[in-house]
Amino acid sequence: MSENTVVRFVKRPQGFVDESSFAIESAPMPTPADGQVLVRAFYHSLDPYMRPRMTEMDSYVPPFDVGQIMSGRGMGVVVASRHPEYKDGDVVVGMLQWAGYQAADPGGLMRKLESGAAPWKDYLGVLGSASLTAYVGLKLIGEPRGGETLYVSAASGAVGSIAAQLGKIMGCRVVGSAGTDDKVAWLKSELCLDAAFNYRTAKSMDAALAEHCPEGIDIDFENVGGDTLQAALDHIRPHGRIIMCGAISEYNQPGSGLKRIFRIVSHKVRMQGFIVSEHVDMMPAFTADMAAWLKDGKIKYRETIVEGIENMPRALVGLFRGENFGKLIVRVGDEPHQTVKAAVAPASRGSA
Ligand SMILES: NC(=O)c1ccc[n+]([C@@H]2O[C@H](COP(=O)([O-])OP(=O)(O)OC[C@H]3O[C@@H](n4cnc5c(N)ncnc54)[C@H](OP(=O)(O)O)[C@@H]3O)[C@@H](O)[C@H]2O)c1
Repeated sequence: MSENTVVRFVKRPQGFVDESSFAIESAPMPTPADGQVLVRAFYHSLDPYMRPRMTEMDSYVPPFDVGQIMSGRGMGVVVASRHPEYKDGDVVVGMLQWAGYQAADPGGLMRKLESGAAPWKDYLGVLGSASLTAYVGLKLIGEPRGGETLYVSAASGAVGSIAAQLGKIMGCRVVGSAGTDDKVAWLKSELCLDAAFNYRTAKSMDAALAEHCPEGIDIDFENVGGDTLQAALDHIRPHGRIIMCGAISEYNQPGSGLKRIFRIVSHKVRMQGFIVSEHVDMMPAFTADMAAWLKDGKIKYRETIVEGIENMPRALVGLFRGENFGKLIVRVGDEPHQTVKAAVAPASRGSA
């Protein structure tokens, strides 16, 4: 345990991010100070918001500094503790550096996980913040009523796949789009959406929505922005809601701007953004609901697991090319053994 591997952010990308924005480096093993713990990471989550953070802009989080070690949500095990409330073997989830080992202040940035409650990986996946995002967006902004049409973009992804299934649970007619035929087939056959289409091979977004949402859209769960958002706005029904969850098509290049905005007025549409980290108070209700849905086999999910810290930059770039199918997680070390007591239906699982 003398060498550590870290991934540093070394260059602000211009346009589409590539691996040259990152450097994989060896670093000395960190030593925890008083009040700190030494954490060995074993899973890291890769998420779209990391790309906007590479650009200097006014946002809800500061941009990454050039030269800093990358960071994001991750999971690790305490291997040395100088904090009275943590001991060796405790498993923690929270903001971690992209590093094999780190000395960290546990404070409010990490929480301890109970061993045996669920597979460790699920705390970054189906029980994690992407699923909470779907729950918060639909409950607080979408407010679905039975029989309404819900359109979900990036519907095979971490947030989208859960938003689409919650829409079904809440009684909506759900239409999803994704970027490969395999993903579309999964949306129809496994998630049982009412309709799904491949936005890359569709004649146009407008034609696809006209075909699959003939009565219009009551709720748009917007993950993509750009042309996708434009088409959803063009098909929104009176009193529709646009849940502005994300705009991934605009993270590497600016969008061309929304047109026909008067439709928001004429159709009395509510369009609202949100950031999931402001709604952690909904985590207990979400966890209880999700545990019940998983137990009843009502939620299915997929993960793409990439191996090795050195592959994190490539995997993050791939997220913007649709290479992940479901939640993108990187395994950077062995997970600690645990015996899971809670039954999560095996049929609800799947991985790429
Ligand atoms: N508001 C919040 O608090 C919050 C929290 C988490 C996530 N989000 C947002 O939710 C959205 C989904 O995030 P996620 O974590 O669930 O990621 P994800 O959907 O698991 O992965 C991203 C997917 O987006 C699709 N995509 C990438 N570039 C695209 C483009 N140019 N046009 C259309 N589709 C594209 C790809 O799937 P295809 O193969 O289908 O193209 C890719 O697999 C993102 O916009 C993210 O920023 C918001």
